[in-house]
Amino acid sequence: MIRLVLLFLAFLSSSTSHANSITDLCVADLKAALNPAGYPCKKPPLTVNDLVFSNFKAGNTSNILKASPTPAFVAQFPAVNGLGLSAARVDLDAGGVVPMHTHPGATEMVIMVQGRITTGFIAADNSVFVKTLKEGDIMVIPPGLLHFQVNAGGKKATCFVTYSSPNPEPQILYNALFGSSLDSDLVARTTFLDLAQVKKLKVKFGGSG
Ligand SMILES: *[C@@H]1O[C@H](CO)[C@@H](O)[C@H](O)[C@H]1NC(C)=O
Repeated sequence: MIRLVLLFLAFLSSSTSHANSITDLCVADLKAALNPAGYPCKKPPLTVNDLVFSNFKAGNTSNILKASPTPAFVAQFPAVNGLGLSAARVDLDAGGVVPMHTHPGATEMVIMVQGRITTGFIAADNSVFVKTLKEGDIMVIPPGLLHFQVNAGGKKATCFVTYSSPNPEPQILYNALFGSSLDSDLVARTTFLDLAQVKKLKVKFGGSG
């Protein structure tokens, strides 16, 4: 009996000694459905290319935001499935902006690489935390709070961003209000904006209602 227990303990310790092996990874099978725990795992064997994202590059900033956020979330980078982290790269032209948004459930860390970016958030008690960051600065944005970035110089600026979630899909405030089908009258009444202004913004951002 004692021998059996010892054998069992030896088995346990040998299996935990592999706790950091490649088998602990669950690279997302993006063809399966996303559920609250993430994606199911891609079938083995894995290769090193499953763990590399090669598209972390400046995107096209010829848009209304003069910005190109490049996400490396689970949908673009399946390796982060289940790992509690992901990243993005944000390139801002002069005048560029990442509009007010939140990442429900994800803490964000902004890592400045080039140029100057003013970033900030509004806390739940409405206290305001704003800072113009330069190369070498890092700033934390707490989870779930409304925050933004704007280019603070006359030149291109770049920051890398990490998140405490593999899927920190943002909810963008202007899209929620003016790109959705929420009735314009309800938007006006709940934001104290003029109805005419709401209708104008609905057209601009593709909303209805
Ligand atoms: C960037 O986007 C604009 C507008 O969609 C387009 O006209 C332009 O060709 C794009 N530039 C590149 C390099 O893809």
